[in-house]
Amino acid sequence: MVTLKLNGKEIQATEGMTVLQAAQNAGVTIPTLCDHPDLEAYGGCRLCVVDIKGWRTPMASCTMPVSEGMDVNTHSPEIEKSRKTILQMLMSDYYDDGYANGQKQETQLMHWVNHYGLDVKTSMSNKPRYQVNSDANPFVWVDLNKCIQCTRCVRACADIQGRFVWNMAERGINTHPVPGIDTDMLDARCESCGACVAYCPTGALDNKMSMGAGVPDKVVLTTCAYCGVGCQLELNVKDNKIIRVTSTEKAPVNGNHLCVKGRYGYDFVHHAERLVKPQVRRYLLEGKKKETNGSAWDWVETDWDTALNITSQKLLKIKNEFGADTIGVLTSAKCLNEENYLMNKFARQVIGTNNIDHCARL
Ligand code: SF4
Ligand code: SF4
Ligand code: FES
Repeated sequence: MVTLKLNGKEIQATEGMTVLQAAQNAGVTIPTLCDHPDLEAYGGCRLCVVDIKGWRTPMASCTMPVSEGMDVNTHSPEIEKSRKTILQMLMSDYYDDGYANGQKQETQLMHWVNHYGLDVKTSMSNKPRYQVNSDANPFVWVDLNKCIQCTRCVRACADIQGRFVWNMAERGINTHPVPGIDTDMLDARCESCGACVAYCPTGALDNKMSMGAGVPDKVVLTTCAYCGVGCQLELNVKDNKIIRVTSTEKAPVNGNHLCVKGRYGYDFVHHAERLVKPQVRRYLLEGKKKETNGSAWDWVETDWDTALNITSQKLLKIKNEFGADTIGVLTSAKCLNEENYLMNKFARQVIGTNNIDHCARL
C-alpha cells in the first residue's frame, strides 16, 4: 500500500493503482471520457487532469500511477477551468443534427458538458464534417460528427469482442475511427455485438433500431432468454414497448457485453405475426389424411390440449410402427434447466430413445 494526500486528506491506495482509481475508491468523482474501467487506459481526452504537487503541468489521473507521499488536488479552480476548456475544444469539433433539431441525448459527453455549464448549441460546430449514418451495418448507427476520438470503440472491439474492426485513421483534427482499412463494418468482420456502441461516450455510435425512439419511461433489468449463459440486460421501455436494449456493467455474468441476439434481437416481442397460441394443420384437426396443399395444409389456431393430444397420438403411432429410435428430441437453451431435465426424462423414459440433443451444442 502507498499513502498519499487527496484534496488535503490522507488516503491509502494499492501500489500500481492509478490516481483516478485511488480517487474513485475514496469516493471522489473525477470527470472522464476516454477512460473506462473495462478497457486499457488510453490518456487521450485529458478531462481527468489533476494537480500533483511538484509537477509543472496538470496530469491525466487515468494513466498516472499513485506513489508514496503524492499530494493530489482533483478540483482546484485552475483544474476546473482546464476541464471546461478541454470540453470547449471537444465541442468545437462536434456536431449533432438531432440536437440542432431539439432532440437531446443523455450521453456521458453531454453529462459533463451540462455539468460544466456549456451551452450545447453555441459550443458545437455549426456544420457536419461527415456523412450521418455512414455505415451499412443493420444495427450500428455511425455518425462521426459526434466523435471525440476517445478510441473506446477501438479498444472495446479489440479487447472485449476480439474482432479488431475499428482503427484510427488520419492525423490531427482529421483523426477518426474507420472499420478495417476504411471499408465498412461488416466487410471488416464486424459481428454486430454492439460493444462499440455500449462503450461510445458520445452517441457517435448508436443503435440503429432505436434512432428517433425517444427516451424510455422505465428501464427493466432482466435476464436474456436466448441461451443458457444468463446475461443480464436492460429493457428500455416506452409506452409499454421495448425501444432499446442496453447492457450494464453491474451484470455479474456479462458486464457491459452482449451478443447480437441479446442486444438487437428483440423485435419479435411486439411482432404482429408472433405466435401466441398453438397452431395445428387443418387436416390434422379434422382427422383427415395428410395433404400438403390446399386449405387442408393451413395452420389453424387451437387450444393446448388439442395440440398436445394430436402430437402425442402421432408420436405414439410413429413409435409403435417404426420404433422409438426413429424419434429424436431437440431441446432449447431458451428453456429453464428444469424444463431441459424434463425433456431428457421424456425422451429416455416416455419415448424410450437416447436421441436427445440441445441447441447450445450446435
Ligand atoms: S459491433 Fe461488435 S464486432 Fe462490430 S465493430 Fe462494434 S464491437 Fe466490433
Ligand atoms: S466513435 Fe465513439 S467510442 Fe469511437 S472514438 Fe469516437 S467517440 Fe470514441
Ligand atoms: S479520461 Fe483520462 S485522459 Fe481521458
